[in-house]
Amino acid sequence: MYKRNIIITGGAGFIGSHVVRLFVNKYPEYRIINVDKLTYAGNLENLIDVEKKQNYVFIKADICEFEKIDTIFKEYNVDSIIHLAAESHVDRSIMNPMDFVMTNVVGTVTLLNVALNNWKNNFENKIFYHVSTDEVYGSLEMEGYFYETTPYNPRSPYSASKASSDHFVRAYFHTYNLPIKISNCSNNYGPFQFPEKLIPLMIINIMNNKPLPVYGKGENVRDWLYVEDHAEAIDIIFHYGTIGETYNIGGDNEWKNIDLVKFICRLMDEKLNYPPGSSEKLITFVKDRPGHDLRYAINCSKLKNTLGWKPKTNFKDGLIKTINWYLENAKWVNNVITGEYEKYYQKQYLER
Ligand code: NAD
Ligand code: DAU
Repeated sequence: MYKRNIIITGGAGFIGSHVVRLFVNKYPEYRIINVDKLTYAGNLENLIDVEKKQNYVFIKADICEFEKIDTIFKEYNVDSIIHLAAESHVDRSIMNPMDFVMTNVVGTVTLLNVALNNWKNNFENKIFYHVSTDEVYGSLEMEGYFYETTPYNPRSPYSASKASSDHFVRAYFHTYNLPIKISNCSNNYGPFQFPEKLIPLMIINIMNNKPLPVYGKGENVRDWLYVEDHAEAIDIIFHYGTIGETYNIGGDNEWKNIDLVKFICRLMDEKLNYPPGSSEKLITFVKDRPGHDLRYAINCSKLKNTLGWKPKTNFKDGLIKTINWYLENAKWVNNVITGEYEKYYQKQYLER
């Protein structure tokens, strides 16, 4: 008999795997049901250290499939959802927006409908926690911050789909009283991030002596947060956040892309004993991302003041940990690059 039965969607992805690990290890009294479709971004090798734990279950499923999710709800007596499953890469959303509409909008509404159907006679102790992004607020000039009250102004198909999902989650709270919570976080970095995103791409390209593509002039600004600090914020909001509320999460750590890439180059030169300046020579300015948001900057004082969270990981320390992880996990990196990781589910769950 578990104290809670929690579905974590997208648990095989980057942030989801850190959230699953934290919850499985910290709360043995909770059963964690990782529901993931295993798209290209889902990698069960992210969870090898927890896959045998008693309180962990993995189920391969698409969040757009009502019947399947409904069956999981009933079978596991689900009382909470932490919803991270999404198409998450802005560049892919520009190439193929429809995937983003399906998973991020239709998938989220499907989950809301399943939760409502199963919980509507008793909302007590139930939580639908939707994990979202600061990109819903749009793009800032060089001054100012995103607050929880900032009007939404999404400008990429990715952020438009996430904004839409946030609106639906809030609508289910106001219309049906579904007990929801939302958080909107800035850019994450750390181990297990798929190397299409800026930081792991730069690390792996330096390892392989390949060009470092910087979009436009590299003037765009992002606010970086170590992924374990995000997972901890999710833990705190899940347990202590107020139903119906939104919390911003950020690192108070703004970097221009070009400065960040140069910093990574310096750290990699030191780590690999390359002559100073070697990695920087790989920097290549490429065509800008269409509609490239100039700056994201989060004000997260609500979370700090009301729930006492703050980021623990200093940026240089976090980057060094991340670089070391990619260097020490050549097999993980290689399996991602070759596509071998996609066979893991077959081997681990179907052929035994
Ligand atoms: P990710 O792309 O690494 O992982 C997404 C996961 O969702 C994968 O495991 C994938 O298989 C799964 N998935 C995709 N479509 C699915 C579907 N239809 N059904 C079931 N599973 C599906 O993403 P991430 O970077 O870990 O982001 C996780 C969440 O956090 C997303 O909702 C994203 O919008 C949000 N977020 C990300 C960041 C960031 O910097 N990465 C920052 C703020 C918020
Ligand atoms: O702000 C939170 C968001 O951060 C999340 O919601 C998204 O899921 C996540 O992907 C991330 O979005 P970004 O577009 O900011 O991240 P990305 O790593 O793709 O790019 C970071 C910055 O670096 C951005 O300004 C684009 C730039 N960039 C990116 C890549 C991949 C480059 O200059 N070169 C690159 O090759």
